[in-house]
Amino acid sequence: MNVIKIEPIVRQVIETDNDWKILKQLGKGSYGVVYLAEKKGIQKAIKVIMYEGKRPDLQADIEKEIKIMHHLAIKGKCDLIPCVREVYYADDDPSEEEDYFSDSKSKTTYYTFLVMDYIQGIPLKTYWNNLDNPELKVKLIYLVVLALRTLHYYNILHLDVHGENIMVTDDLHIYFIDFGLACMKDKCWAPFGGLYSPPEHDNYRVGNENKQVFSEMSDVYQLGLILSEMIRGETIQPVIYSHNCVSEMDVVINSLRTFKEYSPWNIIIGQMIKCDLMERPNLDMVIEEYKTGKMFSSKYISSYNKKHLKLYKSRESSEILTSISDNKEPGFDVSKMSDEKDLYETYEDGENSEEEYEGESSSTTSDEDINNSSEIQSLSDTDEDT
Ligand SMILES: Nc1ncnc2c1ncn2[C@@H]1O[C@H](COP(=O)(O)OP(=O)(O)O)[C@@H](O)[C@H]1O
Ligand SMILES: [Mg+2]
Repeated sequence: MNVIKIEPIVRQVIETDNDWKILKQLGKGSYGVVYLAEKKGIQKAIKVIMYEGKRPDLQADIEKEIKIMHHLAIKGKCDLIPCVREVYYADDDPSEEEDYFSDSKSKTTYYTFLVMDYIQGIPLKTYWNNLDNPELKVKLIYLVVLALRTLHYYNILHLDVHGENIMVTDDLHIYFIDFGLACMKDKCWAPFGGLYSPPEHDNYRVGNENKQVFSEMSDVYQLGLILSEMIRGETIQPVIYSHNCVSEMDVVINSLRTFKEYSPWNIIIGQMIKCDLMERPNLDMVIEEYKTGKMFSSKYISSYNKKHLKLYKSRESSEILTSISDNKEPGFDVSKMSDEKDLYETYEDGENSEEEYEGESSSTTSDEDINNSSEIQSLSDTDEDT
């Protein structure tokens, strides 16, 4: 058995205070460690998030992560994410050991423990690499797209979509994990987008804090990037700055076209990684394209987005925390923009540009769609609260 090194305070809170037995380490991330633990024959994953010194911003980030997971748990019945069951807090106070002669005073370390459902799965990329049947791979992409669309339907943007944050179980069930950067659609906060930061977030970072850049299109881009990596079997530069995005992405998009065994995904994914968010299809369109084999033209996509896509700007953390679960405020309607012309001036008025696609206006997800998608997701009844 491999011995895992666990901080005494972590062991104290998990094992002594709360009766769990730590079995092994499941993963390690930027802010802490995730353990598999067991109590009375039930296994849970416990994510330990820690930071040094009073950091209201980080604490607020953690509260936001918990609230978003609660929101999804209420909506999705733990079918889409591991539900959070309990939260513990702890801190160690090193004040007695403070060394007044040293510049670096020791600081209190704060711990948050999220006890959540254990997803007995493996990360998407690993799962993909172990499959050799292209038909199954095509189906897997579909299931991941459906799962992300469901998050969007519940008003959540993940914003850190990558291979380690999507888990696949043996029965092909998809779970999204890690809501550390996630936000409610109109209450976004983090001005960046994780490992695969989309070009619009780069645009935001360079001093345009008031730009409306948050939308589901950032998730679409991130998902498109990891799917491209999976299909091409090659890692793509994780951060692609806006100034060289177009040339780099064109190379990727063209090479994707040669993977005919993944058709039509090879073409659809090329649309998802467009540098300009207005040229990316939303996930309803993506599903429509996959099901019908009929591609939306880029003209249709951009005119649709111009009319319907809501873009949001980053908010203050305090604003978000007080009202994270009521999502009543309207978003930002691109079609009513006048002072953001620089972003959209290349688009014509969308009124008459639907000639390439004559289906019904199918790009609004209905409850029925979601029910259909849960059929495919094969609702497993893991919600112990109900
Ligand atoms: N509920 C869970 N069930 C199983 N494994 C998990 C669970 N949550 C996290 N993990 C594992 O721990 C890793 C780190 O967790 P994550 O929430 O992504 O933390 P971070 O925010 O630090 O990236 C994940 O990539 C995954 O391998
Ligand atoms: Mg992670």
